[in-house]
Amino acid sequence: MTQTQEQAVPTGDTPFVPIEKIVSLCKRRGFVYPNSEIYGGVSGIYDFGPLGVELRNNIRRLWWWSMVQTNDNVVGIEGAIITHPRVWEASGHVENFVDRLVDCKNCKRRFRYDHLPEENVRQNRCPVCGGELTEPRTFNLMMETYIGVLEGERTKTYLRGEASQNIYLDYDNVLKSSRMSIPFGICQIGKAFRNEVTPGNFLFRQREFEQWDLQFFVHPSEMQHWFDYWKARRFEWYQSIINHKDRLRFRAHGPDELAHYAKQAFDIEYQTVLGWQEWEGIHWRQDWDLSRHSEYSGQDLSYTDPETKERYIPWIVETSGGVDRTFLNLLIDAYQEEPPAGKDKEGRTVLRLNPMLAPVKVAVLPLQKNKEELVTTAKELHSKLRRLMVSQYDDVANIGRRYRRQDEIGTPFCVTIDFTTLEDQTVTIRERDSMSQIRLHMNEVPAYLLERVRWDYSV
Ligand code: GAP
Repeated sequence: MTQTQEQAVPTGDTPFVPIEKIVSLCKRRGFVYPNSEIYGGVSGIYDFGPLGVELRNNIRRLWWWSMVQTNDNVVGIEGAIITHPRVWEASGHVENFVDRLVDCKNCKRRFRYDHLPEENVRQNRCPVCGGELTEPRTFNLMMETYIGVLEGERTKTYLRGEASQNIYLDYDNVLKSSRMSIPFGICQIGKAFRNEVTPGNFLFRQREFEQWDLQFFVHPSEMQHWFDYWKARRFEWYQSIINHKDRLRFRAHGPDELAHYAKQAFDIEYQTVLGWQEWEGIHWRQDWDLSRHSEYSGQDLSYTDPETKERYIPWIVETSGGVDRTFLNLLIDAYQEEPPAGKDKEGRTVLRLNPMLAPVKVAVLPLQKNKEELVTTAKELHSKLRRLMVSQYDDVANIGRRYRRQDEIGTPFCVTIDFTTLEDQTVTIRERDSMSQIRLHMNEVPAYLLERVRWDYSV
């Protein structure tokens, strides 16, 4: 929830991409649309288009694969968005999940008090116009809703403010139904809702967004070991999916910015034009959650070690990141505008996404659309490939234009059917980043592509 307001200076030789370019690409190519746009939109809420949903699914699948499928001591759940209202009293969100806001009396701009530069807090001055600021006012971020239809019989509850609460609620059921024993973890990917008072920067701070969480339950004496373990694992994971490795770092939370449930916390931060910003939080939640839910529900959530018979409330290591922030950071990380070079007079925009995450894996292109044999052969290959991976058939405009269109959405491979194909059944495969081309027999294409777009992740 915190962010640093440092000057954004690129650490490598590639300049930072302005967010507006990503917003424009997302709308133009069908990654992200403003929600309810025909009614003027809703601030901080977005919809995902045909390419966006593919990218999102790939991101989610990779996370699930690396966190759940490849760890014997981690299982997954999918909890409901609405829970018993007492959950949010027990969790501390009703009382503590607040932002403090100040308004500028002169220019009327609104700021989060904890995001103001120190200098402006000291002088009580607006960071934009220098005007006087109001006293900080406190707002709760929980989104309210009601269960039931009849006035007077409706119960107020909340859309979940953090997805992780379901994991504590289901902890005991998982323990009993899946033969897990401590140490073990529960993962979940799910929507969360916050009445953010200053939503903005596109997908970065939204009111409806998606989180991925691991809650790892441990004996208190092993807390430090597992905290360090997951902290390192999560950093390696983010490093493995980005190009600009030098734009990732840890930042420790100071005592004044720790969330109400955390005794210690580190953010994994990524550097963009917005400065260094949180991507995922690693939190030392200790016994806060299970103790509070035991107290508020009256159910004993302590654990008895099957061998030593020791009884204790497990402590929790949390790794909590955002699917939307991953989506945004990956697009920023992959986006590149290349100037014209050699025979190329136009230059290109290319999304250098990891092939396993790219929304479209291959485009099949007949060299000309008015030659029936080229079109038929290309369509046949496309219909074979689309059963194995996301494939697009495209015969509109010249071949250079079509390559550019695919580069812009991050398609790692283009397969071109030309006149030589009709003679010897070979096709051209063009690779997105190097733009190098090889010729291959058509029968070899599926295996060649699968080898290059499959999950091949070993962290
Ligand atoms: N359960 C712990 C928790 O919710 P958090 O730091 O508030 O911790 C975890 O959120 C992650 O969720 C953040 O690192 C960020 O990636 C994402 N996130 C939080 N608020 C968000 C928002 N308003 N819009 C988009 N993503 C958000």
